[in-house]
Amino acid sequence: MSMLKSLEQLQAEGEAALRAIASAAALPDWYHAYLGRKGKLTEVLRGLGALTPEERPAAGKAGNAVKEALEHAFAARQDALREAELNASLASGQVDVTLPGRPVAPGHLHVTTRMLRRYRDIFAGMGFQVYESPEVETDENNFGLLNIPPYHPARDMWDTFWVNDQVVLRTHTSPGQIRCMKESHPNPIRVILPGKVYRYEQVTPRSEHQFFQIEGLVVGRNIRITDLVGTMREFANQMYGQGRKLRVRSSYFPFTEPSIEIDIDCVLCKAAGCRVCKYTSWLEIAGAGMVHPTVLRNGGYDPEQWSGFAFGLGVERPALQFHGIQDIRYFYTNDLRFLRQF
Ligand code: PHE
Repeated sequence: MSMLKSLEQLQAEGEAALRAIASAAALPDWYHAYLGRKGKLTEVLRGLGALTPEERPAAGKAGNAVKEALEHAFAARQDALREAELNASLASGQVDVTLPGRPVAPGHLHVTTRMLRRYRDIFAGMGFQVYESPEVETDENNFGLLNIPPYHPARDMWDTFWVNDQVVLRTHTSPGQIRCMKESHPNPIRVILPGKVYRYEQVTPRSEHQFFQIEGLVVGRNIRITDLVGTMREFANQMYGQGRKLRVRSSYFPFTEPSIEIDIDCVLCKAAGCRVCKYTSWLEIAGAGMVHPTVLRNGGYDPEQWSGFAFGLGVERPALQFHGIQDIRYFYTNDLRFLRQF
């Protein structure tokens, strides 16, 4: 029998079989038998190989037409059967339209997200824009261009997840400084860079191997360390309440010079001494400093003409302190009993 004839017959047979089906549940079997990968149509089309090159195009076209016709008939039958079944069930059963619906439980923002938004709002009020940069970073951005060459002992400050020799999960948001500078030059910069960072550290109630930071970067003419301290003071007053005391300690980061750390008087014990401040009366809120000339240069800014400051703020720790949360691991375990409290 010619292929065209077989196709014609197959179509007729398939359509008849479809009409004979009485319930939607039986439809998949039909589909399998006629249009499935090992179905009858495939079987007929296998004969294409045996045809002469002259016969082949017409047969192929007819094959496609039959496939389309059957698909179409299938969809139509499916709609018809489903509608009939629905009508039958509505007619036979009783629908109690007064029954209350199932409530949709609305979600809400994660405590970390709310914290991030508070930071963002405060800095937006001071004219900062948000600059986003990737979590998977080059060694060069995460370390090298931040004045931390290979084998520099300062690399020990950040225990690193390596993707390969040249790629890391960023250990801090500071590599965003480099990206932002390269993109912004020769314009001045005033941004925060919020985001998640990763450290190859033991997970304990006090430290996670993933957490958020908010980096700040300001580059301009005549930017001074007093601008940095003033910005931190305004931030602390808005975040933790007016009249905060600020303490500036000297520190070391390879990408800032000078480097400082900033503490505020403990919000919980009002400086009387408590477990949260470890009886020191102070809470550390930021690592910061003036952008190192080498880093400015790596970002494309001439340090003779430009200066800037940078800071890095934690997100989860302050949330712990605000809410009296005992264990930082709660932030990532998605336990609803925890999440619903905020
Ligand atoms: N990147 C530093 C850290 O993660 C914090 C920091 C940011 C320090 C900006 C100075 C300036 O420890």
